[in-house]
Amino acid sequence: MRAAAIPESFDRKRLHVITWGCQMNVYDSARMQDVLAPLGYVPTPAPDDADMVILNTCHIREKAAEKVFSELGRLHRLQQARERAGGRMILAVAGCVAQAEGAEILARAPYVDIVLGPQTYHRLPEMVARAARAVGAVIDTEFPAEDKFDYLPDASAPQGITTFLTVQEGCDKFCSFCVVPYTRGAEQSRPAGAVIAEAKRLVAQGAREITLLGQNVNAWHGEGLDSGTWSLGRLIRALAELPDLRRLRYTTSHPRDMDEELVSAHRDVPSLMPFLHLPVQCGSDRVLAAMNRGHRVDDYLRTVERLRGARPDLALSSDFIVGHPGETEADFAATLALVRQVGFAQAFSFKYSPRPGTPAAAAPSQVSEPEKERRLAELQELLRVQQARFNAGCVGLDLPVLFTSTGRHPGQITGRSPYLQPVHVTGPATWIGTEAMVRIAAALPNSLSATLSTERACA
Ligand code: SAH
Ligand code: SF4
Ligand code: F3S
Repeated sequence: MRAAAIPESFDRKRLHVITWGCQMNVYDSARMQDVLAPLGYVPTPAPDDADMVILNTCHIREKAAEKVFSELGRLHRLQQARERAGGRMILAVAGCVAQAEGAEILARAPYVDIVLGPQTYHRLPEMVARAARAVGAVIDTEFPAEDKFDYLPDASAPQGITTFLTVQEGCDKFCSFCVVPYTRGAEQSRPAGAVIAEAKRLVAQGAREITLLGQNVNAWHGEGLDSGTWSLGRLIRALAELPDLRRLRYTTSHPRDMDEELVSAHRDVPSLMPFLHLPVQCGSDRVLAAMNRGHRVDDYLRTVERLRGARPDLALSSDFIVGHPGETEADFAATLALVRQVGFAQAFSFKYSPRPGTPAAAAPSQVSEPEKERRLAELQELLRVQQARFNAGCVGLDLPVLFTSTGRHPGQITGRSPYLQPVHVTGPATWIGTEAMVRIAAALPNSLSATLSTERACA
């Protein structure tokens, strides 16, 4: 079902969206803009003159709520200035902090007009109408029975050359440290037909690379086109058939859900990029068990082996947590050993941050802050060296780059390698939106520079 068409006779209004957190929030922010477009809301780059501001929040690590309240304080001052000038700024808080702490937000920041969770943003037009009638704050953090995707309009904002497409939401895994199962709810997969239809629209609007999103994207098991249940590998094969879609990626995967069909897609589907974010969190079986991750170190290593068997040039990325309750020096040493054994092209690493309501927050044997800091610094140094080595190993290679924007310097354009590295090239802006072979000339700390030759163009 589609959202009811709303007459276009509304005044143009300015909408500013601030997005924190993961790629899912980036996708959600774009969808909220789409939902509000029929009401006359057009995106504006700054909050100062906005008729509505949405703060899309993240709850994954500590201080999330404090950061929200300090940002709300800043926005409140703009809201007051606008009121003094005879206008009105509707202030909405969305995302995972809204879901977890909606009531507290309204108690501490009564000037907030709307609080909405990640599963209710298809109801935004109704919430805005109520807020505009100034009948008090509107809060909607339910996990509604209806599926928001059935009520969202087709994407109306122009989409980028690389874009996100949510295929799966929520998490049933309940890792000891994580808030996501509480803020995003139970695992749900969109039907293949809906995903493919959205992908076709994105490609028609100019997208050349789609990253399939999910909190546990490889747990996707949706209704297939043949009415059986498909796995993610099958969905990727179907999407790879779309003409003009040059690149596919997916994130974030859980090591437990890396099935054979997905591994073999890495071997058989050339547009599936040879880069995978596969969080392992730590390298000690004892801590993995305490984290409730549901796999051991060996399982992870075997999965990496299967993936590299299917796609030998596959580059890996991961997430790590240091200082989970009970982590000893020997456990941490095991994490360093795993990193050395696998070799990562890039990775994200965090100090364990206790989240209220999660099992690990209440566990005894919390690791001290200085100890967490020391371990994090040591791990990050190792990961930095590995990333630099991986980038240096690309120098001299010819790689296809999908160009997405002009670069910082005049005459420069920027894109991504198959391994997700930013690549800067001197070249014409007309190449943006196309893929071309380049020769990597130098590795910088976080990007590559390359030379482009037109005879090497592949699109
Ligand atoms: N679904 C993904 C991760 C989502 S959260 C997965 O299962 O891997 C992104 C990352 O944030 C996690 O991989 C983890 O490394 C980190 N994270 C989550 N909760 C955390 C916490 N309480 N403290 C520190 N890091 C955390
Ligand atoms: Fe969080 Fe674990 Fe679910 Fe990932 S798998 S979202 S870390 S509970
Ligand atoms: Fe943050 Fe929610 Fe994403 S807590 S990481 S915005 S799922």
